[in-house]
Amino acid sequence: MKQLILCVFLLLSSPAFAASGHELESATIDLGNKASLQRGAKYFVNYCLSCHSAKQLRYSRMAEDLDISPELVELNLMFTGEKIFDGMTISMRPKDAEKWFGVNPPDLSLIARSRGPDWLYTYLKSFYVDESRPFGVNNSLFPEVGMPHVLADLQGLQRAVYKEVETEDGSVRKVIDKLEISEPGRMTEREYDQAMNDLVNFMTYMGEPAKMERQKLGWKVLLFILVMIGVFYLLKKDYWKDIH
Ligand code: HEC
Repeated sequence: MKQLILCVFLLLSSPAFAASGHELESATIDLGNKASLQRGAKYFVNYCLSCHSAKQLRYSRMAEDLDISPELVELNLMFTGEKIFDGMTISMRPKDAEKWFGVNPPDLSLIARSRGPDWLYTYLKSFYVDESRPFGVNNSLFPEVGMPHVLADLQGLQRAVYKEVETEDGSVRKVIDKLEISEPGRMTEREYDQAMNDLVNFMTYMGEPAKMERQKLGWKVLLFILVMIGVFYLLKKDYWKDIH
């Protein structure tokens, strides 16, 4: 019985939580909110696309899905001399990336699907100052992360506040209790939360651009069925009128 309960518990707890023991904050995902997706696209292109690619998303498709004119996309969202029908690639060579960061920044096309929006949202809010790391920052959700805090000018810098917890064998261990802003950035905490929510919303769209299309198609199908029900009802009335 105990094992069964344990099994159910393991199944229910999310993998990200189980892996790190870090609580996740929830992002509000709304793929119908075009303004949020557009802002998210802007953050992604400006702050992430220098190191990470998103090869599976074509600029042209993004323009269409997010209601941005192709000219505007070319002007404001494309910097690396690509064509509008190209996927979002980067010019950094994998070999250089490995030399600079120790690891290759992964392609982010499907990251929202593998990690989940809440994980991403929490990750982007969990950088803190740690002088022992090569870039001077660490991440409480992704310890020893190889990525610098590229959004520090927006968020500012956070410092970790520790608490002591007793482990099972009776020894005392210091763990991070919370992070707090030690040096403000250009945004207030609320603005930064909103910006990260927009960015994660965009990355969720990026993971499955076809979802939006499916939802639109879904409504059309429902409408079609409704109309057909009306037509069949009238037909039925007509067929049976002589019998009654
Ligand atoms: C200066 C280069 C650089 C920039 C800019 C950058 N990253 Fe990273 N990122 C990295 C590196 C390097 C890693 C690999 C970290 C590791 O595995 O330790 C990484 C890892 C990640 C991961 C974790 C992937 C995993 O293993 O699951 C996510 C998510 C991520 N980045 C998102 C972003 C987002 C969103 C932005 C834009 C706000 C961004 N990154 C900007 C270098 C960068």
